[in-house]
Amino acid sequence: MLRGINMGDNKYIDKDLKSQIDFARLPKHIAIIMDGNGRWAKKRFLPRNLGHQEGMKRVIEIVETASQLGIEYLTLYAFSTENWKRPKDEIDGLMNILVLFIRRELERLYKNNVRLHILGDISKLPSMPRNEVIKAIDRTKSNSGMILNIALNYGGRDEIIFGIKEILKDIDMGKIDIGDLNPELFSNYLYTKGQPDPDLLIRPSGELRISNFLLYQIAYSEFWFSDILWPDFTRDDLYMAIIDYQKRNRRFGGI
Ligand code: FPP
Repeated sequence: MLRGINMGDNKYIDKDLKSQIDFARLPKHIAIIMDGNGRWAKKRFLPRNLGHQEGMKRVIEIVETASQLGIEYLTLYAFSTENWKRPKDEIDGLMNILVLFIRRELERLYKNNVRLHILGDISKLPSMPRNEVIKAIDRTKSNSGMILNIALNYGGRDEIIFGIKEILKDIDMGKIDIGDLNPELFSNYLYTKGQPDPDLLIRPSGELRISNFLLYQIAYSEFWFSDILWPDFTRDDLYMAIIDYQKRNRRFGGI
């Protein structure tokens, strides 16, 4: 996979790539499927959870980079509704990593003026990660910078069904009329209520699928795939994705 020139001189690549970004045309909303932690660990004969731990280190790096670039919304897929099918020790490991991440990085998120928002049903999380998440939402609630959406116990199909149920309740109570239902109104019943749809969806690790992520919101997102495994994903990869995005001609169905 192309990773820019002068691989031996990261500072040079960093500076060079960043200078290629058109700051007047940044994507407002970037979504990332953080994939490849397991394969990263396997390649090194390490347990899968060490791959997730390494992936966690990339989270803070990418969040900080995105927020400093001026990205308004960053959405990270951390745990899907389907991930409950994984072995218990991996699930426990992921929950512990989430707790560790918040304990270690909350103040850094706060100082970066990041506001945390969760996509998904966190009532189903074990109490310790749930309480940490609630604490982090509360700590960052008055921040005015980038919104960091973490998708936790999130599934795109579940989200749509949840939205339909909420709409039916509002129709039942006479709050809205069935005739008023349109795509914009429906988007207000999703976890991303009030947010613009992702402009750019990034999936590292070489997989070319959506995996039940933001199914409604990605109707016109630009996709950027890369072979890099998430624990190897650097800010240069983020810059490259943005530069590539800026070369695209988005028509939204028009000509
Ligand atoms: C997919 O890789 C990744 C996950 C299911 C978990 C993502 C979690 C993190 C990056 C860690 C912490 C996140 C936060 C927000 C603190 P995989 O395990 O499916 O990789 P594989 O396809 O190579 O097996």
